[in-house]
Amino acid sequence: MVRANKVVLAYSGGVDTSVCIPYLMNEWGVKEVITLAADLGQGEELGPIQEKALKCGAKESLVVNAVETFVKDYAFPSIQANALYENRYPLSTALARPLIAKLLVDAAREYGADAVAHGCTGKGNDQVRFDVAIMSLAPDLKVLAPAREWGMSREQTIAYGEKFGIESPVKKSSPYSIDRNLLGRSIEAGPLEDPMVEPPEEIYLMTKAIADTPDEPEYVTIGFEQGIPTQLNGVSLDPVSLVTQLNEIAGNHGVGRIDMVENRVVGIKSREIYETPALLVLIAAHRDLESLTLLADVTHYKRGLEQTYSEMIYQGLWYSPLKEALDAFILKTQERVSGVVRIKFFKGNAIIVGRESENSIYSPDLATYGAEDQFDHRAAEGFIYVWGLPTKVWAQKTKG
Ligand code: ARG
Repeated sequence: MVRANKVVLAYSGGVDTSVCIPYLMNEWGVKEVITLAADLGQGEELGPIQEKALKCGAKESLVVNAVETFVKDYAFPSIQANALYENRYPLSTALARPLIAKLLVDAAREYGADAVAHGCTGKGNDQVRFDVAIMSLAPDLKVLAPAREWGMSREQTIAYGEKFGIESPVKKSSPYSIDRNLLGRSIEAGPLEDPMVEPPEEIYLMTKAIADTPDEPEYVTIGFEQGIPTQLNGVSLDPVSLVTQLNEIAGNHGVGRIDMVENRVVGIKSREIYETPALLVLIAAHRDLESLTLLADVTHYKRGLEQTYSEMIYQGLWYSPLKEALDAFILKTQERVSGVVRIKFFKGNAIIVGRESENSIYSPDLATYGAEDQFDHRAAEGFIYVWGLPTKVWAQKTKG
């Protein structure tokens, strides 16, 4: 059965996506496979990956550097939304998927492909994110997911690949499944599948163990303009440099580790370890600056939407109309979220110790307990009379 003629395949260089190339051609009748590897700052040479794809039978092998777009158009809006899935995971992997989907669709258009493909299995979130994002961007394109259907075990996959000259992984492959980009690392499987097992130190690359962190605290300021981080320690930086440098600083103090059992879209609970130093710090700092610059009702209302927003990112709805409408709301709230947040890094902590803004609506004259106090204390009495009236009437009726 011919599933498609020309396919653009999301390619990582790993065994599974490599096997997808001959599999698509030999089992599913695809005539041409074009691979696409996205550089999202995973710190890996993509040149060899390009060659590898061609060796596996790809007609063309594309490498797209999209790290700047990734930070500017995917991570920063998410920071403005303080997006944390289940209040903890800053969505470092989830944010990459809609961008990769967009790159696949763009390439499919450019090369006249009738399908795109990915190597996700049927158990994870990423298949949902790819498929739904592609559907939203290009409802006419077919999405092929061979690994969801081929039913091969790891050993069988490797054996299948060997028939087509795909080398089996030389070094005893790690028991972990790892996804990485500039924003962080997601680590699962192997011994981590037991939620009671403490993650071995070896899995961490971006963050130091507390025992190895400096014995002196380090102070850092982060400057924001309209909810976008623009400065580190008073120096204006482009988005990629800012995240890169902050990853370094926070990771050095052991900040950025998350160990959680999360609820996947497909109904499975999974134990996941994350290292996302800069992203976590930026969200905490941004949220703090909002406390100085937004009114109470806007803040409270936004907090509710933030939860919806983070669920939508996690669940693959990045390009949905609701997400777009929420973006408009969030952007409006950010107009005055500019200023500086001061953070003290020490022994696994990123403690916010100060914040300032030209747009601050914190009023010292109202807040002070000193002589300068401008607040009309007597006005509080009438306010409380009216505020408490319904409760008082209720109590009179029910408590005699
Ligand atoms: N659970 C995370 C998510 O759904 C990360 C999954 C990435 N894959 C991995 N091999 N850890 O966003």
